[in-house]
Amino acid sequence: MSRTVYLDGQYLPEAEAKVSIFDRGFVMADGVYEVTSVLDGKLLDFAGHMRRLTRSLNELGMDNPLSEQDYLDAHRKLLELNGITDGLVYLQVTRGNAGDRDFAFPPEGTPQTVVMFTQAKPGLAENPQAQTGLRVISAPDLRWHRRDIKTVQLLYPSLLKMEAKARGADDAWLVEDGFVTEGTSNNTYIVKDGTLITRDLSNDILHGITRTALLRLASEAQIKVEERPFTLAEAQAADEALITSASAFVLPVVEIDGAQVGNGQPGPIATRLREIYLEESRKTAI
Ligand code: PDD
Repeated sequence: MSRTVYLDGQYLPEAEAKVSIFDRGFVMADGVYEVTSVLDGKLLDFAGHMRRLTRSLNELGMDNPLSEQDYLDAHRKLLELNGITDGLVYLQVTRGNAGDRDFAFPPEGTPQTVVMFTQAKPGLAENPQAQTGLRVISAPDLRWHRRDIKTVQLLYPSLLKMEAKARGADDAWLVEDGFVTEGTSNNTYIVKDGTLITRDLSNDILHGITRTALLRLASEAQIKVEERPFTLAEAQAADEALITSASAFVLPVVEIDGAQVGNGQPGPIATRLREIYLEESRKTAI
């Protein structure tokens, strides 16, 4: 069945939603995006995603073309039109149609492009990977150095996902100067002696919305949190490893580059944090 999607103020069948070949998002990857999960028809941490969207746009010198209420209304309308119970809403804002290809930005006042669409994911919270855990490989982090901006230039993470799959793994963890930065599309954590350890915020990683929530919930659950970089060797020797993202929530990692983490099973802290995160997210969803 064809989806109804949002394009620049209009709700259209997906086949009719067309963006110019001169759009800066298409020719320059000059755009930012957000992914908000949906459980029971409600949006998880919508305000957090809106804050990060504004920040990403600011960092690239782009205006925010819509108000938070406009985005919320559009998200809700898309959920309703497409009958989404569990899934996600993808939102992308680009610098718009420049009318030609040029490295220089288009003139001030050029309308930006705003796209939103839904993806249905029935049973999103019942991911079997929560029981089996993920197996990851490592790879050098060859991305640019403004990973804090959620841009649509996702070629390297995409190549790595394919490499991971080709090697029988689920994902890749990126390593720079000997330390893990993050996963291809998630933030990374280890647990050692009951302490949850994750890289501190900087331009080196995306400031995950799920990460912010998880660290708060972990502290509230009396789990000690340490924000600092960790090495791959430290991760392989940890008691547990895990990842977070808006669409995966919290998932355990049981193998890194062929080395078993802990006893090779999802650990108790990762499992508990997933439960706490899901419970809290459902409660605060709008
Ligand atoms: N990815 N790091 C990277 C590189 C990411 O792409 C993501 C999210 C995260 C986690 O951020 P959050 O908790 O705000 O989702 C960390 C999204 C889900 C995606 O690209 O589909």
